Amino acid sequence: MQDLNNIPTQEPERQGYFMDLLSKEIEQYTKDNGQCPSYYVATFGCQMNAHDSEKLTGILEQIGFQEAPREEDADFVIYNTCTVRENANTKLYGHLGQLKKRKEKRKMLIGICGCMMQQKDTVAYIQEHYPFVDLIFGTFNFYKLAELLYRRIKGDEKQVYEVLDAPETNVENLPEKRKFTFKSGVNIMYGCNNFCTYCIVPYVRGRERSRTPEDILEEVQRLADSGYVEIMLLGQNVNSYGVNFMGTSPILEANPDYDFPDLMEDVCKIEKIHRVRFMTSHPKDLSDKLIDVIARNPKICRQIHLPVQAGSTEILKKMNRHYTKEQYLALVDRIRAKLPDVSLTTDIMVGFPGETEEDFLETVDVVKKCHYDQAFTFIYSIRSGTPAAKMEQVPADVVNERFQRLLKVVREESAKATARFEGQVKEVLVEDIDDHEEGYVTGRMDNNYLVHFPGAPSMIGTFVNVKLNEAKGFYYLGEIVND
Ligand code: 5AD
Ligand code: SF4
Repeated sequence: MQDLNNIPTQEPERQGYFMDLLSKEIEQYTKDNGQCPSYYVATFGCQMNAHDSEKLTGILEQIGFQEAPREEDADFVIYNTCTVRENANTKLYGHLGQLKKRKEKRKMLIGICGCMMQQKDTVAYIQEHYPFVDLIFGTFNFYKLAELLYRRIKGDEKQVYEVLDAPETNVENLPEKRKFTFKSGVNIMYGCNNFCTYCIVPYVRGRERSRTPEDILEEVQRLADSGYVEIMLLGQNVNSYGVNFMGTSPILEANPDYDFPDLMEDVCKIEKIHRVRFMTSHPKDLSDKLIDVIARNPKICRQIHLPVQAGSTEILKKMNRHYTKEQYLALVDRIRAKLPDVSLTTDIMVGFPGETEEDFLETVDVVKKCHYDQAFTFIYSIRSGTPAAKMEQVPADVVNERFQRLLKVVREESAKATARFEGQVKEVLVEDIDDHEEGYVTGRMDNNYLVHFPGAPSMIGTFVNVKLNEAKGFYYLGEIVND
């Protein structure tokens, strides 16, 4: 290792220092091997994790790694894990089994990070059964990738392990490699304070911390200046933005009550940004002020993701959701009254402890009343350490049968909701070539629906008007119209 006295103690200078050292190592590697080392980052879970992965790949590219086309070819594989549901653990162990075989045959590095690493029992299991993993780090220190990698390469630790229980410092200005060149997520807050009784997130992502408006607006401005047209404001619960600012700023001094709707309005003022999205909303905090701000700002996309989780007030109470079925339905009515063309999506869980047939039917009733455009359905999964883990569980066969029934209703409602736009012409941002149909591209409407239509790769990142010829459940087939 280098002389420790020279290492900066402040961030992001410290990571800059390690990135420089690693760049030199990688330059040498490239000379010796005739090609630069490659990486592959596999991301599981939510938009927040996907955005964290963009930060990891930004660091890797800055120091000289190149993205491998396939995981099998990579010299450095990183798994950015999710732990919201139990099956994520099982899947990860499957992947690690395969990596073990690969690593026996060739020189490579393996890193695991993200939410699952914040759980001590999981890490202990990995350390015991998968000692060949080179790096283990968590959600609060992924910005330290360069430092940890340097420790592994130049130090004498076989496995570098560093997981923090809470954030030490927030490091923002490190390189990021954004997946798209025209749309991007922007973190506005980190963590969650809600402690829904089934959810592991508050334990693995810590308490709510909000970035200052200046930090966020500067980042959005930078993205706009480099050609980005669509921004997704990201947070576990964006409606409580402002609960705990990570510093003060002139905007906050002038307006100590600055909140999420204020931020949305300010983001909309950035000229070259055409679309603003946000994710995720908690129904208990979605204010009328926000609905009004959306209604008067055409840049804010007509889509609200409003996780209901369950329809029974009794179950919602046990989940610690802080709203009743009636309050949720009334909120949906208020949203639809002011945003008639809004597309509404949700998350629903089946089989929460104590759920009776009557409780389940309340969930079905909510789905029928809300006419969701899309609903993400989950079977409740026990997360150890959460209050619900200790409650009386519903037998698996009962849950599975309910889940199938729910899926049927969700699909019917979604198909009906999709049909309402059939035949209309909508503005679409072209995102990608269509994997399934040659000569087709895929675009997204402001209400988040996808449409596939004949088009060329050169259209990616541009807006076109598309006629929605045929609704297909939760997407469309269409064609470009020129007037
Ligand atoms: N079991 C099943 N689903 C869960 N979710 C969160 N925790 C659990 C759990 N323990 C779902 C919720 C949340 C979505 C991201 O994941 O519906 O909104
Ligand atoms: Fe989990 Fe509830 Fe926080 Fe969402 S709001 S991350 S479900 S605790």
